[in-house]
Amino acid sequence: DWKEKGAARLVKTEKDENGNVISTHIIKRGVEDFEFGKTLGIGSYSTVVGATDKQTQQTYAIKILDKRHIIKEKKVKYVEIEKNTLSRLRDHPGIVSLHYTFQDESSLYFVLDYAANGELLSLIKKMGSLDEACTQYYSAQILDALEFMHFRGVIHRDLKPENILLDEKMRVKITDFGTACLLSNEVDSQGNKLPTYPQNHRTNSFVGTAEYVSPELLSDKVQGKECDVWAFGCILYQLIAGMPPFKAANEYLTFKKIVKLDYRFPPGFPSRLKDLVRRVLVFDPRQRYDIPRIKAHPFYDGFDWNRKNLWKQKHPRIM
Ligand code: ADE
Repeated sequence: DWKEKGAARLVKTEKDENGNVISTHIIKRGVEDFEFGKTLGIGSYSTVVGATDKQTQQTYAIKILDKRHIIKEKKVKYVEIEKNTLSRLRDHPGIVSLHYTFQDESSLYFVLDYAANGELLSLIKKMGSLDEACTQYYSAQILDALEFMHFRGVIHRDLKPENILLDEKMRVKITDFGTACLLSNEVDSQGNKLPTYPQNHRTNSFVGTAEYVSPELLSDKVQGKECDVWAFGCILYQLIAGMPPFKAANEYLTFKKIVKLDYRFPPGFPSRLKDLVRRVLVFDPRQRYDIPRIKAHPFYDGFDWNRKNLWKQKHPRIM
């Protein structure tokens, strides 16, 4: 017996043969079904708050978006993209799952997986840098999540250590799909999926974060899946070096370094990883290593890429 109570609560009741209610289950959640806790993050259009489902005691991270602000700043399209993207990517361990969405007069709510160990960026900052074993472990999970995302026709476009979260078992969970690009199922003459949305809505501005932006976006204003692989290369470098390869006093100088491929390896940077980074941070996106070639690189020699095992392995000691 299903009943819609109000707009946001679908209630299932079980009755015995005499018509007495023996149990009720709230199927569709609303604001009143959660106990809100501490703020986990504040963005320009949203706040992420920790919350507990009163019925199941399950912890979630709820992204709260202010409707008036979103409409005023013309970000409705981005919110739709984020919701549609997360819905497409629901069942991968390396991507934050969207469990419920609901709204009240003032806000939209996205109920997401809670990542207990916060941002990968905080881990890098706390440790200064990571060792090779950790770099292999975290980068392999990022790569597997990226491969799945691309397979489902999603380009993230703002991949960076702030958007890579860690769960209670130190497993990677990619988040923040507000600037993602959804590819349609239509293909061009080369068999590439076509974007559903315009590549870049705002002329003269870019999506993403300066340090991780690919050179093709800066030179041709175009972006395909290769831009996520570029960002992956920057993250690979950052895990070992402690900072991203292209970093300058301001965005303009950072962009200049990117298009000139102006970066250096710090002393002691492992040679096999150097070789891999050099093959990923390639100016021409068509020459850049793709995900299968990265997986086959000697840096991952002997690594078990089987998706089940990859997400079951114990994380290495953090050094
Ligand atoms: N901060 C932002 N999103 C989060 C999430 N899903 N889990 C934990 N902290 C977060």
